[in-house]
Amino acid sequence: MSASGNDLAGAYARVRQASLTLAAPLSAEDCCVQSMPDASPVKWHLAHTTWFFETFVLEPHEAGFAPFHPSFRTLFNSYYQGVGARHPRAERGLITRPGLQQVLDYRAQVDARMQALLASALDASLQALVTLGLQHEQQHQELLLTDIKHLLSCNPLLPAYADAGAGGAMAHAPPLRWLPQDAGLHQIGHAGEGFAFDNEAPRHTVYLNAFALASRPVSNAEYQAFVDVGGYAEPGHWLSEGWDWLQARARDAPMYWQRNDAGGWAEFTLQGLQALAPARPVAHLSYYEADAYARWAGARLPTEAEWECAALEFAPAHEAAIGQRLHPAAMTAASNGCGEVWEWTRSSYAPYPGFQPAPGAVGEYNGKFMVNQYVLRGGSCASPPGHVRPSYRNFFPAGACWQFSGLRLARDL
Ligand SMILES: [Fe+2]
Repeated sequence: MSASGNDLAGAYARVRQASLTLAAPLSAEDCCVQSMPDASPVKWHLAHTTWFFETFVLEPHEAGFAPFHPSFRTLFNSYYQGVGARHPRAERGLITRPGLQQVLDYRAQVDARMQALLASALDASLQALVTLGLQHEQQHQELLLTDIKHLLSCNPLLPAYADAGAGGAMAHAPPLRWLPQDAGLHQIGHAGEGFAFDNEAPRHTVYLNAFALASRPVSNAEYQAFVDVGGYAEPGHWLSEGWDWLQARARDAPMYWQRNDAGGWAEFTLQGLQALAPARPVAHLSYYEADAYARWAGARLPTEAEWECAALEFAPAHEAAIGQRLHPAAMTAASNGCGEVWEWTRSSYAPYPGFQPAPGAVGEYNGKFMVNQYVLRGGSCASPPGHVRPSYRNFFPAGACWQFSGLRLARDL
């Protein structure tokens, strides 16, 4: 995303419209409900992404600034202590007022004020702040889809967010190959031109032992073999905390899988319940499930440095050619599945050597979450086009599985 003035105004308009397009198939009721503390209502996503621009861009930089509504500063603040009070995360679904239409009015007013600001000459730091706001909104566009998927999955009618597509082909994924990497020093992290979040820097040197990385993520068919052989009933495959997690949920298969009448498996998707497609990458795994499968398969999860060093061999150009989609595509000889599911790594989410968060409240964006989470790499079908790059670090707690999260195997050489 270019930071030059007119380009920035165009990018602003495109990204903001994309959020409205995602919300368009939903009713006001769909947009209000919160299905679990981790997931936010669509209406909240629409308001909070607007709040980001109003609070961090307009408030300090707009002449004669006046808020759209004084209470929104607290109501739609997610986690920024530097901004002040916040509405509790788990109670976002209780905000029946403002209604959806008032939130849409909030968006329209802030957009008009932002476009007026973008028509003036912005210095580099303000351009960077607007770009951060757009990247932030893209992150919420992915969450909007995964959160609405969870909400719809809680409805006994299993409604579809969108009409069913072609469905998953019943073919199998191409054979998995191992890509060997020599031991040695490597560079990871973001450097050079283009946007990156602060947690991707500084670029630095790491030493890696010789290892091999799988040529593609684990498929549904491969994961089903683990499920069908009783992998969810054998504590020897699981981390202790993972086994406890499993027992507490009485889970015997990944989230969204259900047995069909014929004794096979179906999975709930944004296009409704579909037969489990063997060649699609397995999705919606927790770290515990990804780790258990890898151990059962005689392999392990990669570290994030291993993933990034090998990424150039399998990563697609994460550019506009890959649009935001509702479900991972089946893997074929021509498509190796990279960018279809976030891939769990065994790396704790920690600062890189020399990491410095940005000054001020926006410095709370990433750095303060660097504890008790694991890094995921690669992007997913639900990531907006152009949003992800090989140095991108997503992160979630080990039990999170409502994202499109899968795994790629690694092993020592
Ligand atoms: Fe946010």
